[in-house]
Amino acid sequence: MCGIVGYVGPRNAVPLLIEGLKRLEYRGYDSAGVAVRQPDGALAVCKRVGRLANLEDALEADPVAGGLGIGHTRWATHGEPSEINSHPHLDCAGDLAVVHNGIIENYLALRADLEAKGHVFRSQTDTEVLPHLIEELLKGGAPNRGAAIRAALQLAKGAYALGIAFRDEPNVLYAARCGSPLIVGVGDGEQFIASDVPAILNRVKQVIYLNDGEVAELRPAGVSVSKLDGTPVRPEIKAVTLKAEAAERAGFETFMLKEIHEQPRVLRTLLGAHVRKDGTVDLGEAEALIAAQAPRLQRILILSCGTAYYAGMYGRLLLERWTGIPCETDLGSEFRYRAPRLPAGTLAIAVSQSGETADTLASVRLAREMGCPVLGICNVPGSTLLRESAAALLTQAGPEIGVASTKAFTAQLMAFALLALRLGRLRGALSAARERELTAELARIPDAIHRALEREDDVRAISQKYYECYNALYLGRRFNYPVALEGALKNKEISYQHAEGYAAGEMKHGPIALINEFLPVICLCTPTADEVRDKMVSNLKEVEARKGRIVAVVAEGDDSLRGLAHDVIPVPETIEELSPLVNVVALQLFAYHNAKLRGADIDKPRNLAKSVTVE
Ligand code: F6R
Repeated sequence: MCGIVGYVGPRNAVPLLIEGLKRLEYRGYDSAGVAVRQPDGALAVCKRVGRLANLEDALEADPVAGGLGIGHTRWATHGEPSEINSHPHLDCAGDLAVVHNGIIENYLALRADLEAKGHVFRSQTDTEVLPHLIEELLKGGAPNRGAAIRAALQLAKGAYALGIAFRDEPNVLYAARCGSPLIVGVGDGEQFIASDVPAILNRVKQVIYLNDGEVAELRPAGVSVSKLDGTPVRPEIKAVTLKAEAAERAGFETFMLKEIHEQPRVLRTLLGAHVRKDGTVDLGEAEALIAAQAPRLQRILILSCGTAYYAGMYGRLLLERWTGIPCETDLGSEFRYRAPRLPAGTLAIAVSQSGETADTLASVRLAREMGCPVLGICNVPGSTLLRESAAALLTQAGPEIGVASTKAFTAQLMAFALLALRLGRLRGALSAARERELTAELARIPDAIHRALEREDDVRAISQKYYECYNALYLGRRFNYPVALEGALKNKEISYQHAEGYAAGEMKHGPIALINEFLPVICLCTPTADEVRDKMVSNLKEVEARKGRIVAVVAEGDDSLRGLAHDVIPVPETIEELSPLVNVVALQLFAYHNAKLRGADIDKPRNLAKSVTVE
């Protein structure tokens, strides 16, 4: 979603802001802008709709420069994408500029009040109330700008990450956070703000993660932080552990392709962190919570959105199979609206790549209010989710820049496998010998994925046959049903080919009506011998009878479906419980090459945002 970068220091802020905004492009945006305090005392604002290149062209044609600046990429919520609606927004006098991520929920009431007092609004955004409100509070006698900002934020309801610059205060950059992530990059004689670490990765070695309800004042010489009531806070300064290369494409044509290919390494890292030499699992930081909960657990509730929700569906199947504990999943956006019942002995597990998804966070807060301990399965250390969870199982996939989630998804599946194994042992549902067998099988997965990736050319050739189709249907059963859903989601979000994922047994209850000779039906048919395999073959026959074009993901060496399927994608075979980790890679490649052949902008799919911080 929206991105924020800010700078105060001796250098010209403009190139630093543009560089930072480029590093945030992956979050998704439709317009961009900067405000820079120029040496002549003016607060120069430049905004453009569309790609950052448009903003760069405008700044090249009409350059601005100065040592204090704020920049923003906007993903429209209130008001269409337009220059007027894009950030930064100014007060009436043009004395202060604001960039904002999040939503000010009571903006209509605030706006009406400010308009009644004579303020003139230019945009349709919720954000614009903030500069006018601060202006009004300063006019009304607020002792200084920091106090006016704090007073304004006591009146504004909703979520925000803010960067604020004043024309008359060229050496101070203000920042605030409530519900939307914001970090302060602590430099030597210069300071930064950013909504995400990659924006300032190569600029600072230390960061402060602001907490909700904190306002920071950044001066070249240092940073001070206070609460909304003015109480000073001693900020915790943390070292940046990410390497700058982690946010580069490393020779791949897109971040998504790089991240697809990173999966074997990512999973090896995760296994290395949690599987001991003797084949037993150690959950690290999450061990204490899980060991304490294991004897009393009655139920597990998994909360997440999008791709992470499909990981949760997989987690549910695996946890029930390996631990025997009843388990349910819910979407973050649905959970809190259904009057949920959470009996004592329920453990909530929240799954999120970013740890900032507003719906997931809201559901976690409700689960906590209802007395559930929360385990966060998450990729971003220091994220809001992990700060609000009782314990963390980090997926350690490294920054995921491609908007479509790939390596974070397989890492979430692997995290569930590790959790289910450990909990299964603690509950006595798995023997020590079975745990060792299963960790040995898990250890084979990275190589299996590597082999699946080696088939990329074959998958591309299959995409070549189907990329022009209007629709695609994905079918799977049991452990591969979430994979069918995820494969369809990947395809539609990056290639814009309409795709439906379905439980294969449900096909005859509706989607069978879609089948004709123009519909590719992608069927997950590994492993070769499990109790749902025969049923899957019957479903393939039903598709064949209606002339659907079957693309089957099969186990290497399984030739039994070659007569039935128009195309096969062979992948290494593993046990059914772990087959999703390998099968999904074939579907990621299929979606990727469909998208590429359709000429889509794969790392910046239209309308999508990497981190969905609004509900
Ligand atoms: C799809 C995708 C989204 C996210 C969803 C949740 O490729 O990435 O569906 O999975 O927005 O995001 P996180 O995992 O950050 O909570």
